[in-house]
Amino acid sequence: MEQKDDFLKEVISHAKEYGFVFPSSEIYDGLAATYDYGQLGAELKNNIKNYWWTSMVQMNENIVGLDAAIFMHPTTWKASGHVDAFNDPLIDNKDSKKRYRADVLIEEHIEKIRQKIDKEVEKGKKRFAEGFDETQFRATNPNVLRNATKITEIEDRMRETLENNDLEGVKKLIEDLEIACPVSGSKNWTEVRQFNLMFSTEMGSVAGDASTIYLRPETAQGIFVNFLNVQKSGRMKIPFGIAQIGKAFRNEIIARQFIFRMREFEQMEMQFFVRPGEEMKWYDYWKEYRLKWHKALGLGDENYRFHDHIKLAHYANAAADIEFNFPMGFKELEGIHSRTDYDLKQHEQFSGKKLQYFDPELNQNYVPYVIETSIGLDRMFLAILSASLKKEVLEDGSDRTVLKLPAALAPYKVAVMPLTKKDGLPEKARAIIDDLKFDYNCQYDEKDSPGKRYRRQDAIGTPYCVMVDHQTLEDDTVTVRDIDTMEQIRVKVSELNGVIRERVSMKTLLG
Ligand code: GAP
Repeated sequence: MEQKDDFLKEVISHAKEYGFVFPSSEIYDGLAATYDYGQLGAELKNNIKNYWWTSMVQMNENIVGLDAAIFMHPTTWKASGHVDAFNDPLIDNKDSKKRYRADVLIEEHIEKIRQKIDKEVEKGKKRFAEGFDETQFRATNPNVLRNATKITEIEDRMRETLENNDLEGVKKLIEDLEIACPVSGSKNWTEVRQFNLMFSTEMGSVAGDASTIYLRPETAQGIFVNFLNVQKSGRMKIPFGIAQIGKAFRNEIIARQFIFRMREFEQMEMQFFVRPGEEMKWYDYWKEYRLKWHKALGLGDENYRFHDHIKLAHYANAAADIEFNFPMGFKELEGIHSRTDYDLKQHEQFSGKKLQYFDPELNQNYVPYVIETSIGLDRMFLAILSASLKKEVLEDGSDRTVLKLPAALAPYKVAVMPLTKKDGLPEKARAIIDDLKFDYNCQYDEKDSPGKRYRRQDAIGTPYCVMVDHQTLEDDTVTVRDIDTMEQIRVKVSELNGVIRERVSMKTLLG
């Protein structure tokens, strides 16, 4: 655990040192759970957005984009259920005065039991070596079975208490499991209370309820209220999707773990409108499509897993998370939800406007069902940054810190360097950049030894370094160094653009 904490600290410090992420308003000691993206962070973030948008909108004829306002009519949030039900159950430890989400405490307890099962399986693997059958082992080993039953029992109790808003029951479960505060170690808990996560503010100069508006806690509702606008103006036929990237705000009880859980964050969401009754087919389709999108980045297939929700949100009839192996362990990265016709029907009821689709093939009007894919951009950023940050020992015994980013997402695609600051080499290097800069983000670097300059580019994930030397002036070739292999090849300047494109284009990931 300690090792994992240390690694997260390394990621945070690397992010700050190289201009990826800074604490917000740091000169005033920062603001809890709020971060600013620096010069490289902004580039990486834009590239992640582009990767998502290309795969979701550009590559799907039946998905279009939207950019709705953050402020929405307050009734939106009454209709969506957020005013009444967007709550987290919170509990305080009386000794440490620390506040926790009650359901998270229980889930962390379950995770510990799961780790015990994994350890037992590892032991079995070692004991039986070649002849080990994991499925059979999990189905028969008494320790595994006992722990698996424990998990089911806890999950059932948690679901029942949360679904029935039985807050006393939630507290009793925490007590029965003897969960202690990670800070004080004590089991001296307050009652469990519900806490609404929406930020509210006043619009205009008139005080009172009528002017209370909310900062949107999800981008999805901007899509729902525009469903007919987009369908009609875009002549969209079901099944079709509307995608959006934008800010969302939640007054999280516990906001920690860097940019994993923030109070202001960005979401990339897509609502896919389908015929009622066909939602499960599309739910499975989008689960698979989204997992493939993640795996295409090459961060390691073993770092992803699905987690089916125990407690379904008030709008869903099926839901799963894609979890990623963050420095803190496996945690939710993306949600895929079958939201039924709940949202559109609620908006019909509260607005008094019909939000229906006429299906020419069925010759019938209906309120479509919705499959949603929803991913936090900042979490995706953390997943990529943490999985890419490596320390390597080189052949000569020295080490390097290298950010092995998927090349298409790298802030700079190429660094161009003159070997020396004289003999016309800087001018030649600048001329190469002038040619490449329309297609790629380039960096010019002439300071320090080539070795130091390579290390700097390693640390920010630049896939290619181009060295301009005296031979360049004779035969118009340059040395191109690959970040991963550190191998160098000689390439004609006229072929440089093509060499870079092959590695950094979105097609390499999505093709
Ligand atoms: N529209 C559905 C929705 O908002 P969610 O599971 O609450 O569902 C979707 O959020 C995704 O948004 C999460 O999987 C996560 O990646 C991201 N997210 C949610 N809360 C966040 C927070 N406080 N900070 C950063 N990302 C967050």
